[in-house]
Amino acid sequence: MGKTTQLGLLSRRVEACGFEVCTVREPGGTPIGEEVRRILARSQTGSIAPRAELMLILAARAALIGEVVAPALAEGRWVLSDRSSLSSRAYQGYGRGLPLEEVELLDRSATGGLGPDICIVLDLPAGEGIARHRRGRKRLDRFESETDGFLERVRLGYLELAKSRAEAVLVPADGTVDLVAERVWREVCAAFPTGLADPRDSDSGRVSPVR
Ligand code: TMP
Repeated sequence: MGKTTQLGLLSRRVEACGFEVCTVREPGGTPIGEEVRRILARSQTGSIAPRAELMLILAARAALIGEVVAPALAEGRWVLSDRSSLSSRAYQGYGRGLPLEEVELLDRSATGGLGPDICIVLDLPAGEGIARHRRGRKRLDRFESETDGFLERVRLGYLELAKSRAEAVLVPADGTVDLVAERVWREVCAAFPTGLADPRDSDSGRVSPVR
């Protein structure tokens, strides 16, 4: 899907503006988070009750925020995250069918209310994104192997969320890597109209490309 490539390019641009950047991924970034990622990804894990899946992801998020994100922000660094709370709404809410209010309530408890200032949703036309994603991976993880329209529900969820959540911005992901990077950069600059702010001066500093 190219989101990790885009995260790297964005990170370089923010650094070129003179800021220190901390990049993380979810689930992951801490020993517990990486273990959760392994459990969730491997196909031998089999099916997990949706609430258990959500809670594993939230445990990973709570560890990441407490051990990495909050300290980085306190040091004045920008934090760029490959996925964030929006993914829980899309995957566990829309995809697995858990009530969105429940996902949001539990997520707030895990994050202590700390969330991204802007969340980039990279979008490809229906079918193309999923096909590209599947082609690009040698082995499919548990989520990518899901059938019964799971990934389609997740995509529609992201589209809904991009309309209803103030921090979420939909960015078309068709075109070259450089073109998409330009679109992402334009949105990030628009989100910080007074210039890329020092995160110590405001709540700013967490930008989170997803998908
Ligand atoms: P990826 O980011 O490398 O694609 O892998 C992360 C997987 O974890 C992806 O399939 C989506 C899934 N995920 C959730 O289901 N909920 C979440 O909240 C997050 C952060 C990820």
